[in-house]
Amino acid sequence: MEIVLSGIRPTGNLHLGNYFGAVKNFVKMQYENNCFFFIADYHSLTTHPNPQNLQQNVRQILIEYLASGINPEAATLYVQSDLPETTELYLFLNMNAYLGELERCTTFKDKVRQQPDNVNAGLLTYPTLQAADILIHKADKVPVGKDQQTHLELTRVFASRFNRLYNVNYFKEPQAYNFNEDLVKIPGLDGSTKMGKSEGNAIYLNDLPDVIRKKIMRAKTDTGPTEQNQPKPQEIANLFTLMKHVSSADTLTHFEQTYNNCSIRYGDMKKQLAEDIIVFCTPIRERINELSKNEDYLEKIMRIGAEKARESGQKTLSEVRKIIGFKK
Ligand code: TRP
Repeated sequence: MEIVLSGIRPTGNLHLGNYFGAVKNFVKMQYENNCFFFIADYHSLTTHPNPQNLQQNVRQILIEYLASGINPEAATLYVQSDLPETTELYLFLNMNAYLGELERCTTFKDKVRQQPDNVNAGLLTYPTLQAADILIHKADKVPVGKDQQTHLELTRVFASRFNRLYNVNYFKEPQAYNFNEDLVKIPGLDGSTKMGKSEGNAIYLNDLPDVIRKKIMRAKTDTGPTEQNQPKPQEIANLFTLMKHVSSADTLTHFEQTYNNCSIRYGDMKKQLAEDIIVFCTPIRERINELSKNEDYLEKIMRIGAEKARESGQKTLSEVRKIIGFKK
């Protein structure tokens, strides 16, 4: 079985874009691979969250992943800081990570632009920490989006450099997980192609029914098709894409037909879409509420995750220490 690993930044609540773009695939993957999913709380320190926010964000994302179907018995679900071995591997990898290659990283350059007053060394070495996350479990595959490709590339560079330096064949070079037809991008409600928190166009898994209705009814549309089988403008295509994910095939076909023969009423389509999103989100929201009240269970899940992660991480780290020349 292949080892698949992914890190999740604890940045607020999950929305439909996160769910259909990533979490749904994780849920499927966990039964087909040896999966490690972790909440990247060390990484989040680059923006200096206060202690309460840090705690709260980790807890919330854990709850929402569990509510979305991550099964802690199938996958190893843990909090990054519960595997402190990661930081020691990070230190070792940093010895062979070069300033030039870290500075050239597009994600670093973006951060320099976004937070010019806080260009800390943690930001610069963010890719080394990510490489440590991946290599500590010797992952084969990492399901990442386009924006993370350079980090994965650097991980391979660090892995093979380590092997060369110590003349061993220890680390494998992890590859991107290939989603094939599973890779989906959920559009925003504002006519843009991406649903995102910072874009302010998202529907969250824990949104209440009335909030969902309001957001959908406000979604951007045009004045309607005037010719048969006319191509759809972006904002209309977006509504159809959302519908494809949450509604039945019959519902989708119905609105496709009414669009194509110009009899569509966007108000009707939106009402249907809102109700179908509500049907999809409600059980998840109920599980979120349930889990939020069950502190003992959450503690237990985090403890079990930490134990499983450390079993794997400690083995790697002790082997790495030996290779480097430490006695133990
Ligand atoms: N950098 C990733 C992101 O921004 C999060 C992450 C941290 C990660 N460590 C990882 C992803 C290891 C995959 C593997 O989303």
